[in-house]
Amino acid sequence: MTRPKPSRSPGDSAADAPAEVATGVPPSEEEPSRPTLLVVDDEEAILEAVSLTLASEGRVLVARNGREALELLETEDVALILTDQRMPGMNGVELLERARQIRPQAIGILLTGYTDIDALADAINRVQVYGYVQKPWELNDLRLTVRRALEAYELARENRELTRRLEEAIAQLRQENVLLRREAGKRYCFDRVLGQAPSMQELFDLLEKVADTHATVLLTGETGTGKDLVARSIHYQGPRRSAPFVAQNCGALPEGLLESELFGHRRGAFTSAVEDKRGLFEVAHGGTIFLDEIGETTPGMQVRLLRVLEGGEFRPLGSSEVRRVDVRVIATTNRDLREAVEGGRFRRDLFYRLNVVHIHLPPLRERCEDIPMLTEHFLRASNERLGKEVEGITRAAMDLLLAYTWPGNVRELANEIERAVALAGSSRRIDEAMLSDHLRSSVTVRAPREVDGGEIETWSLSLALEGLQRRMIQSALAAAGSKSGAAQKLGIPRQSLQKMIKRLGIE
Ligand SMILES: Nc1ncnc2c1ncn2[C@@H]1O[C@H](COP(=O)(O)OP(=O)(O)OP(=O)(O)O)[C@@H](O)[C@H]1O
Ligand SMILES: [Mg+2]
Repeated sequence: MTRPKPSRSPGDSAADAPAEVATGVPPSEEEPSRPTLLVVDDEEAILEAVSLTLASEGRVLVARNGREALELLETEDVALILTDQRMPGMNGVELLERARQIRPQAIGILLTGYTDIDALADAINRVQVYGYVQKPWELNDLRLTVRRALEAYELARENRELTRRLEEAIAQLRQENVLLRREAGKRYCFDRVLGQAPSMQELFDLLEKVADTHATVLLTGETGTGKDLVARSIHYQGPRRSAPFVAQNCGALPEGLLESELFGHRRGAFTSAVEDKRGLFEVAHGGTIFLDEIGETTPGMQVRLLRVLEGGEFRPLGSSEVRRVDVRVIATTNRDLREAVEGGRFRRDLFYRLNVVHIHLPPLRERCEDIPMLTEHFLRASNERLGKEVEGITRAAMDLLLAYTWPGNVRELANEIERAVALAGSSRRIDEAMLSDHLRSSVTVRAPREVDGGEIETWSLSLALEGLQRRMIQSALAAAGSKSGAAQKLGIPRQSLQKMIKRLGIE
């Protein structure tokens, strides 16, 4: 058996010996889980005896004095330091005190020949050593003390590890919480305007701010993008909500009639004016007037509108009396008004008056991620209107909806769904065949679009649940070999299973 040797003791005959004691214990690389123990004593015989005793408890390193021990501590991950108290140069308590700077987690045990327990106890308190072993010791006692100390070390290590993991988990939860809050902060609607695309989030933020004011708003966007809906939402979410909202399509009437509609007339102002009539500006007093398709107005009409917008003043047809109203104006146009201004077809001053707040509604093809939620919304509405119970839409049909370019935007989608629901008969789900020929033929050449990075499946909860039901029923049937067995497995009555099998079209 090899004698334990102190390590790194220059001038010593054993100076070249490895720090590790070859006591028949394999080196640490092979057993990384074994704790490393450092035994420090100036007496060779004691080093040897202690090393042999503790070989069963871990990998034992030895040092003949405090200096050597500190050097070893610099490089070795020592779990326990067992040191003689009385050594030349540095005593045991001093060593443990300094060892604490290098390996704060290491457990210290003092070997002492002194009977002066009080003085030692004081020292022990100072460095908070785990304990002491009095010389001469019983080998078994020594081993037991070390074993307990190592258990304490292991517990403390586990405790630290758990604390670290807990802290990590807390940090992660915090992070997730932030993300969730951000997600929860995502809005799916402003009043009845639905959407989850980033452009719609921006729109909702803007609508929120604008609704609170009395500012004139110009809404632009392709047909069916929701200009009408948004105008109403601005009014009903704003301070004028309890006053009237009146709408007039400026493109639908010839100039004279439009003028009479908006500003009213006196009896006899023209042939058919058999009595006085209040104009919409007066009706809307305190509220909002919605001027749809304002780009279609004639130059004469534009002048009158400018006057109301500038000072709230107008004169009914056939009247010399000027009326004054407080009306918020929300206008829309499908046309490029700026271009109309450049082309001399629309008054620049009126354009600026209208364009105080400009809100553009993006076309549906630029926010495909809204198609699933809008589909669900219109499905519910159509079911209600038509007294149907269509529950969802097949994946293939949804792919078609996602691939189509929707020139009629949300209105076209609403109509498509209503039509499909009407055609669904007793089917529970809209499939491709129920979509219009026009839609199907337009998208055959297009690749399906992806929603939110390919998460098509997440669009419909009911569809996802159906998929789950189908898979569970199929595997229960396969496992049980009979319907009653499968029903039992699934914990539902046989008749319910029978119904579900029929509804889900399971073979
Ligand atoms: N974001 C949306 N969320 C829910 N429904 C919407 C949305 N956008 C539009 N709709 C619905 O689509 C239909 C068409 O919208 P709306 O009449 O407001 O469009 P528009 O822009 O005024 O069209 P047009 O230029 O042809 O007058 C309406 O039934 C409306 O409720
Ligand atoms: Mg409209």
